[in-house]
Amino acid sequence: IQRTLVLVKPDGVSRGLSGEVLRRIEAKGYTLVAVELRTADDALLQQHYAEHEGKPFFQPLVDFMRSGPVLAVVAEGHRVIEGFRSLAGGTEPTTAAPGTIRGDLGRDWGLAVTQNLVHGSDSEESAAREIALWFPALAA
Ligand code: GTP
Ligand code: MG
Repeated sequence: IQRTLVLVKPDGVSRGLSGEVLRRIEAKGYTLVAVELRTADDALLQQHYAEHEGKPFFQPLVDFMRSGPVLAVVAEGHRVIEGFRSLAGGTEPTTAAPGTIRGDLGRDWGLAVTQNLVHGSDSEESAAREIALWFPALAA
């Protein structure tokens, strides 16, 4: 059985969509293992987004992610990593498929950072790394 790290980003929390994201995860049949509302600091976010260091959107992304609380979630289920990415939809809200979280609820604000409501781990390796970062007590 797999686990993935989901984040409801500050835009999702401030728009009151945390419950809607949890609802979609549970409605799909995945199990919630951990849920915590917290404001992330720079150190955590720089590690979380290490793969994007050096890209032009890196610092704006980190600044956005610590602009308010995020809901950190560990969800569990068969193929949940791929399954949640599918629920989330494509990175850009404008082109994300209808029926997905980003496609149904995401708005393109025309800002420097893509505010797209959620994050989901993109591989087993990323999931293990990200769960250890956000929930050290759960690390295998
Ligand atoms: P996450 O689940 O958040 O990791 O999204 P993703 O896997 O769909 O995207 P990716 O990991 O490539 O990028 C991480 C985040 O950086 C995205 O969710 C966006 O918020 C932001 N981002 C990615 N690419 C761009 C870009 O080209 N321009 C801008 N402004 N932001 C970007
Ligand atoms: Mg990603």
